[in-house]
Amino acid sequence: MGRLSFLLVLLCASLHVAFSFTDGLVANGQFEVSPKPSDLNGTVVTGGRYAIPSWEISGFVEYIKSGQKQGDMLLVVPEGSYAVRLGNKASIKQKIKVIKGMYYSITFMVARTCAQDEKLNVSVAPDWVVLPMQTLYSSNAWDTYAWSFQADYSDIEIVFHNPRVEKDEACGPLIDSIALAALYPPKPSNRNVLKNGGFEEGPYVFPNSSSGVLIPPNIVDMSDHSPIPGWIVESLKAVKYIDSNHFSVPQGKRAIELVAGKESAISQVARTIPNKTYVLSFAVGDARDSCEGSLIVEAFAGKETIQVNYESKGKGGFKHVSFKFVAIGTRTRIVFYSSLYTMRSDENHSSFCGPVIDDVTLLSVRKS
Ligand SMILES: *[C@@H]1O[C@H](CO)[C@@H](O)[C@H](O)[C@H]1NC(C)=O
Ligand SMILES: *[C@@H]1O[C@H](CO)[C@@H](O)[C@H](O)[C@H]1NC(C)=O
Ligand SMILES: *[C@@H]1O[C@H](CO)[C@@H](O)[C@H](O)[C@H]1NC(C)=O
Ligand SMILES: *[C@@H]1O[C@H](CO)[C@@H](O)[C@H](O)[C@H]1NC(C)=O
Ligand SMILES: *[C@@H]1O[C@H](CO)[C@@H](O)[C@H](O)[C@H]1NC(C)=O
Repeated sequence: MGRLSFLLVLLCASLHVAFSFTDGLVANGQFEVSPKPSDLNGTVVTGGRYAIPSWEISGFVEYIKSGQKQGDMLLVVPEGSYAVRLGNKASIKQKIKVIKGMYYSITFMVARTCAQDEKLNVSVAPDWVVLPMQTLYSSNAWDTYAWSFQADYSDIEIVFHNPRVEKDEACGPLIDSIALAALYPPKPSNRNVLKNGGFEEGPYVFPNSSSGVLIPPNIVDMSDHSPIPGWIVESLKAVKYIDSNHFSVPQGKRAIELVAGKESAISQVARTIPNKTYVLSFAVGDARDSCEGSLIVEAFAGKETIQVNYESKGKGGFKHVSFKFVAIGTRTRIVFYSSLYTMRSDENHSSFCGPVIDDVTLLSVRKS
C-alpha cells in the first residue's frame, strides 16, 4: 500500500511536470531576440515573414526599442528592451505544442499608441477575443491581460492581430511579454459548493510585474474555460487578478480586485437544493495599492443582496463577511461587484482600483 501510494505520488509529480512544461514565456516572448539589422528599416520589419525569431509576421510590423520617441511620446517597454507594434491589419503568430483538450491561459502586455479605440484580436482557432483598448487601467500605459482557451489540437497557433486600419500605419497596439500556462479547473468539494472560491487557480502572473492581470469580460458563457476557472467576468470592463507577491491578498496567493465599479461583475452559478439554507461567506479588503476611501461591495445570492462597506487606507487589510439565504432553485447565481468607482493616485498617476474579494465559500447549513 505504502509503495503503491509512493508510486502514485511519483506518477502525479511527473505528470504535473509533463503538463506544465509550457508554463512561462513562449519562445522569444519578450522579443529580446532581435531581427537581423538587414531585416529592419528603422523600426519597420522588412525582412519577410520570419524576420522576428520564433514568430511569423504579416503586414506592417514594427520592432520597437525602449526609449524610442514617437512625436513627443516616449515609448517605454515594460520588460526587457524590445516590443513589437502591429500596424494596420498586421499580425504576429507562433505555433506551440500543447496537450489536446487541456485548458490554457495566455498572459500578455499591451499598450495603445494613438487612437482611443485601438483593438487587438487574440486567437487560438477556433476561439478568439477582441480586446477593446479604450480603457487604460494601469498608470504606466501598459496593461497586462489574460485570456484562456481549450486546446482543440495538440499543435496550436497563437495569433495577435490588429483588425483596424488607421491613416497612420504607425498607430496600433504594442505587445510585449507573452506567456502561456495550463489551467487546472477545480471541482467543488464538501467544504465549498463553489469552485475556485479562493481564486488560487488562474492565469500566469509575471513574476516581475506589479500591475496585476486584467481579465476581460467573457462575451459568451465560457465559465468552463475562464482564465479564472469557475468564475465568469460579466458586462463591459475587466477585473484584476492580483498576487500576494505584489499586493495584499486576504487568503492564499491570489485574489480579485474589482477595478471597474458597476461596469464589471464576477459571478458563478452554484448547484443548490431548493428550500435549503446556505451561508455565503467571503473576504473584502484592499490590495495595498494606495486605493483609499470608502469601498463598497455588493454581493448577490439568488434574490438576496448584501452590501459591505470597507474603509480602506490603501495599506492592505480585509474583513470577513457572511450571510444566510434560502435557495430558491437548483441553481443560484453568486455575483460580486463594486458599487463605487475608485481611483488610486500616487504623485504622478492615477488608475482604476477597488475592493478585493477573496476566500468565497458557499455551504448549506441546517435550518436554525
Ligand atoms: C527605408 O524606409 C524609407 C522611408 O520609408 C525609404 O525611403 C527607404 O528607401 C527604405 N530603405 C530601404 C533600404 O528599403
Ligand atoms: C478574430 O480573429 C479570428 C481568427 O483569425 C477570426 O476568426 C475572428 O473573426 C476575428 N474576430 C473579429 C471580431 O475580427
Ligand atoms: C525577471 O527579472 C529577472 C531579473 O531581472 C530576470 O532574470 C527574469 O528573466 C525576469 N523574468 C521574466 C519572466 O521577465
Ligand atoms: C419549498 O417550500 C415551500 C414553502 O414552504 C413549498 O411550498 C415548496 O413546495 C417547497 N419546494 C420544494 C422543492 O421543496
Ligand atoms: C513623479 O514625477 C516627478 C517629476 O517628474 C519625479 O521626480 C518623481 O520620481 C515621480 N514619482 C513617481 C512615483 O513616479
